[in-house]
Amino acid sequence: MTQPLLEVTDLNTHYTGFGGSRVVKAVDGVSFTLEEGKTLGLVGESGCGKTTTCLSLVRLLAHGAEIVSGSIKLEGRELTTLTGAEMADVRGNEIAMILQDPMTSLNPLFDIGDQVGEPAERHDRLRGTALKERVKALLHSVRIPSPDVRMAEYPHQMSGGMRQRIAGAIALAGTPKVVIADEPTTSLDVTIQAQYLDLLRKLQDETGVGLIFVTHDLGIVAKMCDEVIVMYAGKAVEQGPVRDIFTQPAHPYADALIRSVPKLGSKEALYRIDGQPPDLSDLPPGCSFAPRCAVADERCHAEEPPLLEIRSGHKAACWKLD
Ligand SMILES: Nc1ncnc2c1ncn2[C@@H]1O[C@H](COP(=O)(O)OP(=O)(O)O)[C@@H](O)[C@H]1O
Ligand code: SF4
Ligand SMILES: [Mg+2]
Repeated sequence: MTQPLLEVTDLNTHYTGFGGSRVVKAVDGVSFTLEEGKTLGLVGESGCGKTTTCLSLVRLLAHGAEIVSGSIKLEGRELTTLTGAEMADVRGNEIAMILQDPMTSLNPLFDIGDQVGEPAERHDRLRGTALKERVKALLHSVRIPSPDVRMAEYPHQMSGGMRQRIAGAIALAGTPKVVIADEPTTSLDVTIQAQYLDLLRKLQDETGVGLIFVTHDLGIVAKMCDEVIVMYAGKAVEQGPVRDIFTQPAHPYADALIRSVPKLGSKEALYRIDGQPPDLSDLPPGCSFAPRCAVADERCHAEEPPLLEIRSGHKAACWKLD
């Protein structure tokens, strides 16, 4: 078997607060592989660990957060043990992240040309006309009209959709192997969202980049992803090929998520998952989903179910898989 582009094994990332008296296991034993040209979706309600998983991969965790164990291999190279400088190099060249809110990743004080050109200037040492041509090509690749004019403008002069595409251009500027997009469309209206997703797919076809796509929208997962991880309370509760999981969800939470997606033309009332996800610093014993699960029994409230393979490449963590 050839080596996967990205291979994450038993990743554990914790937040430690209050002098270590409280530990939040925001990422609790997550494993997956990503192949070249493929898209992996991370889904789940807010607070289940999606962003922390992404930040762990690029090692841009907030103060107080730490990867406590596990392995992250990019083309076989272990990233968790790299020095800060080596990791900064990986971020510039091999893994890029598009943040949820492009306003926080774009600097209001610099024009678009400076920001899109920065990675090319730093890594490829481009200057003058060569740099300008690269910036134009990048803006063109993310379908920014009149790049000549736009590169002299500032972020506040752009629409939300345009800012998001520019953040995409910056992420792609170093021709990375993996791009992580953390809910990149939540701030966009539906039409612009669809255009942005089409654009990401086209860029993926052109470059073979591996995409990790975070969203709480299962409609987007169905459209964009090859594989999906359904996260709940820091854990992968179900993962595998998108088609498998959409047609035969095994975990009650994944099943409920799928049933809550509006179907085109259907008048059927949408399913709602009652209750809230648990506080990760105060998890219930047993299965974390038990307090909200319609079929939970005594064992569910006492023992945590392991993540087991139920079909080829399709795993779920639940005591009642059949
Ligand atoms: N900066 C932080 N400091 C302390 N705890 C945090 C911080 N960010 C996130 N957490 C904890 O990690 C959990 C997962 O957060 P996050 O990864 O942002 O989830 P998601 O992206 O799925 O909404 C949260 O429920 C919270 O308990
Ligand atoms: S282990 Fe029990 S509580 Fe958890 S999802 Fe399965 S049935 Fe529900
Ligand atoms: Mg998030």
